[in-house]
Amino acid sequence: MSLEYRSPGPDEFATALGTTHAAFGEELKDDDIERQRRLMPLDRVLAAWDAERPVGVTASYPFELTIPGGQVSAAGVTWVGVLPSHRRRGVLRELMRRQLDDIHERGEPLAILWASESVIYGRFGYGMAAPATELDAERNAFALRDDPGPPGSVRLVTADEAAEQLPPIYERIRVERPGMLSRTDDWWRHGRLADPEHWREGSGPKFYALLEIDGEPVGYALYRIASKWEHGTPQGEVRIVEALASSPDATAELWRFLFGIDLVTRVKADADPAWPLFLMVADPRRLHLSVSDGLWLRLVDLEAALHARTFAAGEPVVLEVADELLPRNAGRWTVGAEPGRSEEEGDVALDITDLASAYLGAFSFERLAAARRARELRPGGLARATALFATPLPPYCPEEF
Ligand SMILES: CC(C)(COP(=O)(O)OP(=O)(O)OC[C@H]1O[C@@H](n2cnc3c(N)ncnc32)[C@H](O)[C@@H]1OP(=O)(O)O)[C@@H](O)C(=O)NCCC(=O)NCCS
Repeated sequence: MSLEYRSPGPDEFATALGTTHAAFGEELKDDDIERQRRLMPLDRVLAAWDAERPVGVTASYPFELTIPGGQVSAAGVTWVGVLPSHRRRGVLRELMRRQLDDIHERGEPLAILWASESVIYGRFGYGMAAPATELDAERNAFALRDDPGPPGSVRLVTADEAAEQLPPIYERIRVERPGMLSRTDDWWRHGRLADPEHWREGSGPKFYALLEIDGEPVGYALYRIASKWEHGTPQGEVRIVEALASSPDATAELWRFLFGIDLVTRVKADADPAWPLFLMVADPRRLHLSVSDGLWLRLVDLEAALHARTFAAGEPVVLEVADELLPRNAGRWTVGAEPGRSEEEGDVALDITDLASAYLGAFSFERLAAARRARELRPGGLARATALFATPLPPYCPEEF
């Protein structure tokens, strides 16, 4: 099979996007094309062409990702799909290889993605970097513990007001929390706040709730209601698209509001993996929390990635890194002092995939070792590496892209 790999021209953009939709078995709508034209730079789309027809596609959004101690350019890989007529012949592998080269040439040290299936991307060096927590809670079992009563108030606002009020709240939270992504105005208006009919999946319109305490906007929620009635009783659910708050009091108030919505029995959301809610409620079991793989990360340029993040104080450690796909990252690296290549003996050996799981602070080196994902080469190596990479909170990526 001889395929050509190149970016689409301007008049091929929609066809390339249509290939992704076909790979997912979905219909491409006009508003998808318009939205993606605003959000996706043409030269970040890469397609495999079989006689002028795209049969496989990948693309990436230009993000800034918050990492411990700062932020770094990260390619947000998306649109990945290969037509069923061309699957399992190495098209994805070739797209991934070329895309990682392209990301490296752009000077972006990281690539990140949400996987349709968690089995796909490990082979390309992506590791689970910010696991997601989902909640499917029983509304009637909700109560805050030690509840002094509501200090704030929530207003439902229009999409236009949301576009004014929400970004500053998000921005305050984003810059502090590893795993969160920068958002442009277009991203807000045409992405996060947009409400096309075909995104609703059986629920109603998107609502925009703004929380204020002492007159200050401190949190917000985007949500929909899926109405359902059984035997004359309301059995609907609240489907939360995003709920973020900038302080513990604001978090409590936002969830009080969301659990107070009438005519529903379930509240569904992606929740902060630091689990503030789990610790805040009287009956944590009834939140029905579950964990999934969440955000995947590929260390494309390990040296740049190590320079970009800060490390806790502690003795330096030498990591012996394996990277089959991108051998430039392989070898021994010192972390703790000035990060760089090392001639010293290694303290901990691991694959680039598993280093990605430690990079944002999701997993300690001991936890990786307990899962046979890291190996101690010198006594104390795991503990020293863990101390250096430690972060106060687990990373959180509240948005799939
Ligand atoms: C997932 C998908 C892109 C794979 O494309 P493909 O061209 O068939 O993949 P390749 O032939 O390059 O496969 C590369 C490797 O990944 C494996 N692989 C690919 N897709 C897989 C899947 N869904 N489950 C398990 N393994 C998979 C292949 O077996 C192959 O393994 P190998 O390294 O041992 O040889 C394609 O099946 C698809 O479009 N699926 C539907 C849409 C989708 O899920 N997109 C991903 C969005 S994140």
